[in-house]
Amino acid sequence: MQRQAQWKRESEGLVEPPLPSDMLQPWEIWDKDLFDLEMIRVFGRSWVWLGDTEDLQKPGDYITGMIGSQPVLVIKQEDGSVKGFLNNCRHRAAGLAFEPAGFCNKALACPYHAWTYGIDGRLLSIPDMDRMYGPDFPKEEYGLVPIRVKVAFDKLVFGCLSRKAPTFEEWIAPLLPRYEKYKIGTFKRYHRELDEVYPINWKAFVENSNDDYHVRFVHRRLNKVRKQMDTIVRFEGRTTSGYKPHADSFDMSAGRTDLDTQDLRGSYAEFIYPNLTPLPYASQLIMVRVDPIAPDKSRLFSRIYGLSDDIELQNRELDNLALTNKEDTDMVTQLMENLRSPFYRVGPASTWEGRAQHMMRLIRQDVATPLDPDEFDGPVDKD
Ligand code: FES
Ligand SMILES: [Fe+2]
Repeated sequence: MQRQAQWKRESEGLVEPPLPSDMLQPWEIWDKDLFDLEMIRVFGRSWVWLGDTEDLQKPGDYITGMIGSQPVLVIKQEDGSVKGFLNNCRHRAAGLAFEPAGFCNKALACPYHAWTYGIDGRLLSIPDMDRMYGPDFPKEEYGLVPIRVKVAFDKLVFGCLSRKAPTFEEWIAPLLPRYEKYKIGTFKRYHRELDEVYPINWKAFVENSNDDYHVRFVHRRLNKVRKQMDTIVRFEGRTTSGYKPHADSFDMSAGRTDLDTQDLRGSYAEFIYPNLTPLPYASQLIMVRVDPIAPDKSRLFSRIYGLSDDIELQNRELDNLALTNKEDTDMVTQLMENLRSPFYRVGPASTWEGRAQHMMRLIRQDVATPLDPDEFDGPVDKD
């Protein structure tokens, strides 16, 4: 932080900013030390979307994912519940499951030295244990490290490393009552997903995702279906929301009448801290997640859930989303290049960037706050 303040002081003066700005600053984009700290202080205590229950049907089914730079896995248990673990063998750092989704028959064997774990995380066996460690080795202390898991709306799987972070319900409290009404559990995953790596800092994507100001210009093709000038921006706690009413001729309600009129007559682009952009509609839920890889590298992973199993319709929707993602990532890639200059100072947030500013402040607040000494104490099954 001190180093950043010094850079800031030294490079000041070329661009004079008359108004203060809490938007993303150049030195927050390229700094590897800051990135590493974000992996601990932001991702170490956040709920992160990992996948869905379509991949977790029978005992031994698993999904893998990342919470910041920490690989994790979630496995379906014999009793129908799901458990989450770090996807790291307790011996060395080897991964235990490698596919995004898969099935392991009762046990996970590490590919390096073959320590073998049950699907409940217990360490079942170490090859030649007596010779390698002696008979007193405390095998029961070396089970997989558990994490908190929440299956939300009978469908979406979230994970959290911290034991102290609020419950998932508290985490998304401002959105929860409406999300409970969408019947997300009845939506099915579309037949393919979008998955690309971009030369973008993850926070630049967060900022863009929470910017309702650019939509009218960067996504012009949507201007005919939305009343852009009637945008409503909201932000509270760890969630944000940008609502745009649809043009009168454009109906996305799918014949549903069980949602509020506002929810049927418009669309929301929302955000769940730290890295998830959900776009819920009456008949569809778009999920876009940004996974940080390095200061100048992020993965964008998108899925659509919906009521239609018509493959052509699904392809049209997915192509549309790919185009929207491209319009955004092309723009942000260009910003990234220009923000390489430490002399530039960004301008103030407009009203329609209020939620982006809110998210930048939240990230900075987390980065400035060390994890609690007992961040990882306590049970994982309280959710
Ligand atoms: S790293 Fe897993 S057994 Fe050695
Ligand atoms: Fe956009």
